[in-house]
Amino acid sequence: MRLRCRICGERAVARAGPGRRYLCARHYLEHFERRVAKTVEKYRLLRGVRRLLVAVSGGKDSVALLHVLHRLYRGRVELVGLTIDLGIEGYSTPQVEFARRNFEALGIDYRVVGLAEEYGFTIDLASRRRRLVRRPTCSVCGIVKRYVMNRIAIEVGADAIATGHNLDDLSLFTLMSIAQGRIDDLVKLVPRTEKMGALVPRIRPLALVSGKETLTYVVLLGAPFHHENCPHAPSDGLRPELSAMLERLEDRNLEFRKMMYTNIVSNLIPRISRPDDKAGTGTCTICGMPASGKICSFCRIRMRLTEHPKIGVE
Ligand code: AMP
Ligand code: FES
Ligand code: ZN
Ligand code: ZN
Repeated sequence: MRLRCRICGERAVARAGPGRRYLCARHYLEHFERRVAKTVEKYRLLRGVRRLLVAVSGGKDSVALLHVLHRLYRGRVELVGLTIDLGIEGYSTPQVEFARRNFEALGIDYRVVGLAEEYGFTIDLASRRRRLVRRPTCSVCGIVKRYVMNRIAIEVGADAIATGHNLDDLSLFTLMSIAQGRIDDLVKLVPRTEKMGALVPRIRPLALVSGKETLTYVVLLGAPFHHENCPHAPSDGLRPELSAMLERLEDRNLEFRKMMYTNIVSNLIPRISRPDDKAGTGTCTICGMPASGKICSFCRIRMRLTEHPKIGVE
């Protein structure tokens, strides 16, 4: 027997929502877009945003983000795309290509930033010289991405930056921050972080949809995306373990991640006092971007990898 859409009776292609209703392609797309629109409204993500920089890695989440924003808000918000070539062998080139194909298919202006060309180093180099940079590769990568996104947002005059973090990412990161007592990190995991000095606001419109849902969305749209995982992603340790645990809980209670994350955002984070945020207070003496000390983390990494290894060592 063929399964039918609960709304229109057409052939069902996916299940969605807490009731796991069967839906046809058209109604699944509508369902997904409605959930994203609700997130945008609930957390007022587009407040004061005329021009939005959309950071696209070429993976399923950020490709879904680009399409859903285009379909929901085109004409109201000007989208500018950004993709960063991180210089990860066998991974970055196809990633950038997928991002580019989506920008072009939608007619969205975009910037491609190559770390090697613009800054003289790559994430592969940071991985080979981990001891010199004194940080795990993913942490270097996170600093680099945030820096480049902010810099380009300022250059193109964007009012905010959108990233494709989904509910799986955010529920996992919030749990890890709580477990490890990293409260400064926890408070930044909200769907919208506000402007702080030269830090452009960041928004996460996919905060309440899961990775499975974004995958179904891009597949049904027929949008091209990169399937591979980053070769530097850790395969063991706390992160994959906790992720598997959340997945198991999700199987038993369909909305566990959403319940946990929305409760943390609405009930826990507002009660945490934030005396002052170090990141927004200073200015890097080298690049002029926000810094907690004299030199920002990005410039320190760049110098360690490209110039004199001793510079930046306190
Ligand atoms: P990740 O840090 O890889 O989990 O990615 C989180 C979000 O950051 C993605 O959904 C994108 O919005 C953005 N992002 C990650 N990698 C890139 C990249 N190479 N270029 C542009 N944006 C990226
Ligand atoms: Fe940054 Fe993997 S994408 S280390
Ligand atoms: Zn239908
Ligand atoms: Zn700097």
